[in-house]
Order: sequence, then structure tokens, then C-alpha cells
Amino acid sequence: MYNYELINFQTLGDERGSLIAIEEGYNAPFEIKRVYYIFDTKKGVIRGYHAHINLKQIAIAVKGSCTFVIDNGKQREEILLDNPNKGLLIEGLIWREMKDFSEDCVLLVIASEHYDETDYIRDYQKFIDKVIENDKNK
Ligand code: TYD
Repeated sequence: MYNYELINFQTLGDERGSLIAIEEGYNAPFEIKRVYYIFDTKKGVIRGYHAHINLKQIAIAVKGSCTFVIDNGKQREEILLDNPNKGLLIEGLIWREMKDFSEDCVLLVIASEHYDETDYIRDYQKFIDKVIENDKNK
């Protein structure tokens, strides 16, 4: 089972254009402690290559598109983010890679924790070892 969910944000549009609001406890199911965005990603670049021990995140391509690869240690899935109303909620032990960024892509990420390098697993084998350890403790 994957620990991910797609959130369909409501677009509040009128004749002037569109607006999406993201609010903690309403359409973001965690306390929001950090927001960052990835842009100007060079052609062919793959980012990420890490998992988190304790982090909830929502990723949204607010402009352009990119593909999110999520890997739970058993299966890999690719999710195309190509609409500002589409949020990818990830939690738990998931290896992620982001690729196929369009030139104009702005990838917004909303996170439940402050930046903490000690929460990262940047080695794929260590990630697999952690998945096995968690399975044993279930
Ligand atoms: P990195 O983790 O390599 O980005 P990605 O996983 O998306 O490819 O982050 C790039 C740099 O930015 C790295 O030096 C860590 C720093 N950083 C912060 O300072 N704060 C943050 O919230 C994030 C996500 C990264």
C-alpha cells in the first residue's frame, strides 16, 4: 500500500481568473510549517532521490508540469502533476524522485516540518533497509 493521496483543490474562479486556497485543517491535513518551491529546473534533471522518516508533504505543479516517482520499497508509481488544482499528498516512508520538468514548471511543496537534514534518507539501500525494519516491527 502506498501512503499517498491525490487532493483535488477547489478552484475559485470568476471572470477575472482563478484562485486556489490551501488551508491547514481544511484541505491540507497537517500543520503547515514550511513552504518551498522548485523552479528553473534544467532540462533532463531528476531531483529528489531521497525519503523522509517523518514528514508530510503536498506537492503541486502550480505552473507547468512534472512527474513524481514514488517508491515504497516494493512498488514504484509515476504521478503526473500538470494542474494547479492537483495536489499529491505523501506521508510515511516513500522514496521520491521528480523528473520531466517542463521549462516553466513551478513545483510548490507544503510541508509539515521545518527543514531538517537528519530526517532525510539519501541512500536507496538504507531506505530499503528501513522499509524491511518497519515491516518486521509491524
Ligand atoms: P535538495 O534536498 O537537494 O532538493 P531536492 O530533494 O528537491 O532535489 O535541496 C537543495 C538544497 O536546498 C539543499 O542544499 C538543501 C536546501 N533546502 C533547504 O535549505 N530547505 C528546504 O526546505 C529544502 C527542501 C532544501
